[in-house]
Amino acid sequence: MSQQQWDAVDDYFTDKLVGHDPVLEGALAAADAAGLPQIAVAANQGKLLHLLALTQGARRILEVGTLGGYSAIWLARALPADGTLITLEIDPAHAEVARENLRRAGLDKVAEVRLGRAADSLAELEKAGVEPFDLVFIDADKTGNPDYFASALRLTRPGSLIIVDNVVRGGAVADERSTDPSVLGTRRLHDLIAAEPRVSATSVQTVGAKGYDGFTLARVQG
Ligand code: SAH
Ligand code: DHB
Ligand code: MG
Repeated sequence: MSQQQWDAVDDYFTDKLVGHDPVLEGALAAADAAGLPQIAVAANQGKLLHLLALTQGARRILEVGTLGGYSAIWLARALPADGTLITLEIDPAHAEVARENLRRAGLDKVAEVRLGRAADSLAELEKAGVEPFDLVFIDADKTGNPDYFASALRLTRPGSLIIVDNVVRGGAVADERSTDPSVLGTRRLHDLIAAEPRVSATSVQTVGAKGYDGFTLARVQG
């Protein structure tokens, strides 16, 4: 099994079921042109996020880690016209590209990019006592995942869905002796979830255009 094969299969699935959307492809092109790293979710993963948000009947979505707004577009497109997506980004250049991409997608009325450290923006949302989010997508620095997850739990309700990207770390998530901070953050996330009676969760390994990786799905229990 090789990356070449995973690419070919992702291309097949994407051509068949996801399609090619000029706004989404333009968002990736704009992010590339601005020199952003090519670490957005793949098209078929973006569609998965979109379908999960639709299945949730999500009206309020929170994203941690915006980059150029690619996953934010997929998620925000699942919202009703009066829905809300708030996405948190630390890098001003990333936030600027994302705002422009969301504007071009016609989503600037529903989607807001908040600039700052995710930990600070999350604390502000908690302090403001905002309405609970129906779906949270955590996809920023992996060292922050335990804190982001704990915060997501305080910002959701029974029935909400919390998704965490990139939890496999090349397989090192299973290495209890790893000292890699991203691995430690991801293992700590799993410890936290395992000890948390308010969520029911699973983690799944994936291969595809973005290599070998995986995600965690956690449902807040009702
Ligand atoms: N969700 C995006 C990809 C996000 S990449 C997509 O799939 O399209 C991770 C992003 O998190 C980067 O833009 C990075 O700048 C941002 N980030 C990293 N550390 C952060 C922090 N502490 N607070 C907020 N954002 C952070
Ligand atoms: C990285 C971050 C991501 O969110 C991702 O999906 C892939 C890679 C990274 O920081 O390398
Ligand atoms: Mg990611």
